[in-house]
Amino acid sequence: MSQFVDKTAIVTGAGSGIGQATALELARRGARVVAVGRRQAKVDETGATIRALGGTCLPLSIDVSRAEDVHRMVTESIRQFGSIDILINNAGVLSHGTLLTADESEFDRVVATNGRGVFSCTRAVAPCMIEKKWGRIVNIAAVNGYRPMSLSTIYAASKAVVVNLTVTSAQTLGPYGITVNAIAPGPIDTPMTHATWSDPERLAELVRRTVLGRGAQPSEVAACAAFLASEDAGFITGAIIPVDGGRSIV
Ligand SMILES: NC(=O)c1ccc[n+]([C@@H]2O[C@H](COP(=O)([O-])OP(=O)(O)OC[C@H]3O[C@@H](n4cnc5c(N)ncnc54)[C@H](OP(=O)(O)O)[C@@H]3O)[C@@H](O)[C@H]2O)c1
Repeated sequence: MSQFVDKTAIVTGAGSGIGQATALELARRGARVVAVGRRQAKVDETGATIRALGGTCLPLSIDVSRAEDVHRMVTESIRQFGSIDILINNAGVLSHGTLLTADESEFDRVVATNGRGVFSCTRAVAPCMIEKKWGRIVNIAAVNGYRPMSLSTIYAASKAVVVNLTVTSAQTLGPYGITVNAIAPGPIDTPMTHATWSDPERLAELVRRTVLGRGAQPSEVAACAAFLASEDAGFITGAIIPVDGGRSIV
């Protein structure tokens, strides 16, 4: 498929799970992909898979919580491919604990990646998209971002930042032809959720809280991300789209 020919897409957290599936899906549809994550070996794996499919990939070791890394992500992408058209803000870390058991250092660690990372990456790519008067930004939030659960207080707060930034970024960037949307995934089988997926009791409890009675593979989120990044989604902005098997309506 050649839907994204001549488009460059940065995917953060592209070394595993939803980010890797999204990087592969965009590459299959013709995009040049910048695969970003902290572990070089993991993004190199994604790059090798994309090249084996006949695609183009630049794997970069980048920590989205570090301003100098985000700056390098943008300069390297432009140096290699000339522009940035699509940004998938997917990098994230999980955190468990309530107000009484979590602490400030955990808050800073999680929000630096899940919240500030989205802010910094969006700000960093905006000038390039504004110049082209075209851009697609897709943030990976979570159902927790608008239906918070006390057992993951900090994670929920960090995803509320993502939901909020999606709307305000859409308002700011819309006049330049840039859309900004978020996906709120339900239970997806990835390394982040391995402990749950490998425990039949915990998995049954999680799945019970969906309408469709199942969890999903990363490819089901990737398909939605690719749609939001496409021309077909050109009139959608500021939307928070649940890809959650009905988790948010139970
Ligand atoms: N799985 C689910 O059920 C689920 C549900 C709702 C939302 N989500 C969201 O989906 C997104 C993807 O998660 P996933 O489930 O696919 O888990 P995952 O496989 O653990 O993917 C997260 C990726 O983010 C990267 N990452 C973490 N911190 C980073 C940082 N500071 N800078 C750059 N990269 C960083 C990790 O690679 P490195 O460690 O190498 O950096 C990893 O590849 C996350 O935002 C998560 O919150 C997942």
